[in-house]
Amino acid sequence: MQDGNLVDQLSRPIKDLRISVTDRCNFRCEYCMPKEKFGDDYRFLAKNAMLTFEEITRTAKAFAALGVQKIRLTGGEPLLRHDLPVLVTLLSEIPGINDIALTTNGILLPKFAKTLKKVGLNRVNISLDSLGDDFGKMNGRGVPVNFVVEGIHAAKEAGLGVKINMVAKRGMNDDQIVPMAQFCKQEKIQLRYIEFMDVGTANDWKLNDVLTKETLLSMLEPYFNLEEVPRVYGDVATRYRHQDCGTELGFITSVSETFCSSCTRARLSANGLMYTCLFSDQAHNLKKQLRHGATDKELRDTIWAIWQQRDDRYSELRSTQTSKQHKLEMSFIGG
Ligand code: GTP
Ligand code: 5AD
Ligand code: SF4
Ligand code: SF4
Repeated sequence: MQDGNLVDQLSRPIKDLRISVTDRCNFRCEYCMPKEKFGDDYRFLAKNAMLTFEEITRTAKAFAALGVQKIRLTGGEPLLRHDLPVLVTLLSEIPGINDIALTTNGILLPKFAKTLKKVGLNRVNISLDSLGDDFGKMNGRGVPVNFVVEGIHAAKEAGLGVKINMVAKRGMNDDQIVPMAQFCKQEKIQLRYIEFMDVGTANDWKLNDVLTKETLLSMLEPYFNLEEVPRVYGDVATRYRHQDCGTELGFITSVSETFCSSCTRARLSANGLMYTCLFSDQAHNLKKQLRHGATDKELRDTIWAIWQQRDDRYSELRSTQTSKQHKLEMSFIGG
């Protein structure tokens, strides 16, 4: 039953919806979709298993009616989903949604940035882990870093808000921590270092591979004057500001300083499963309801009940060794 404001068992409201629109990607980053595990024989979702744009929009409307204001489209690589601007158009028409963003590897932005902006996309977060010659190896597909840089410029020119996400992993890109900060400062873009997370089981996560915020700061401090910026409720990043120019830089510390107590995010997979935590193994099948004639009210009631019962705080409970339970792959749930 819906009465009053919707909050979960830990008093967290529902504010953001992350929608994965495909589990496919044109990259094979080692920490996300290692080539050996996501090869030619990997079984990605079939087209009819995925929600249609109409189904996604209907679901998003139900979430918006319960308090969601912000939608983020993710993948895999969301720009691989055919006609994505059509979906953005539909989502931008939903009352109550005031922010639509996209998380992408950026290489298709030169093609899509302008159109996406025109149909209502506000922001893009672009993943980039290195500016070096090793970028091609890192993305597993030999794509040169220029392609991503062109994507970044296309997004800026189109007037989209831009942030850069860099997964920091020991032994993978330690030498890129300072050059990436220099690049983003020069571009006046917020760079966010992401602590390597134990999402899924394909990436062989080890605690020792995590470069924590503390380590990263000690690498940056000899080169930059940084001051901390007050945290905004619901923001996943701890932010700092370059004192000389004001450009910000952030750390997503899901391992060293968890932020579950302000986690207001719901997730919807490309095949219509709702998850209440990035690390959850419990799926709630909304597609089934959508395809079995549920009314809008029934859909809202289901989501209400799921959120109301939510008590996830995986990162806070994480032990030093990642558990061996069945875990979602990042490329399936979109981060
Ligand atoms: P903004 O709206 O720009 O703040 O985006 P965002 O940081 O929420 O989204 P993005 O897709 O850019 O995610 C950046 C990183 O933060 C990814 O590695 C995500 O997996 C991680 N992240 C986002 N939300 C959560 C969360 O609720 N829990 C954890 N543990 N990590 C998250
Ligand atoms: N740990 C941290 N971040 C990850 N990403 C993908 N896999 C991981 C992981 N294991 C990042 C991507 C992208 C965002 C959605 O999540 O690089 O920027
Ligand atoms: Fe890399 Fe993102 Fe593709 Fe994963 S979804 S392989 S992190 S580009
Ligand atoms: Fe939210 Fe789960 Fe991440 Fe904690 S671990 S911040 S509950 S998604």
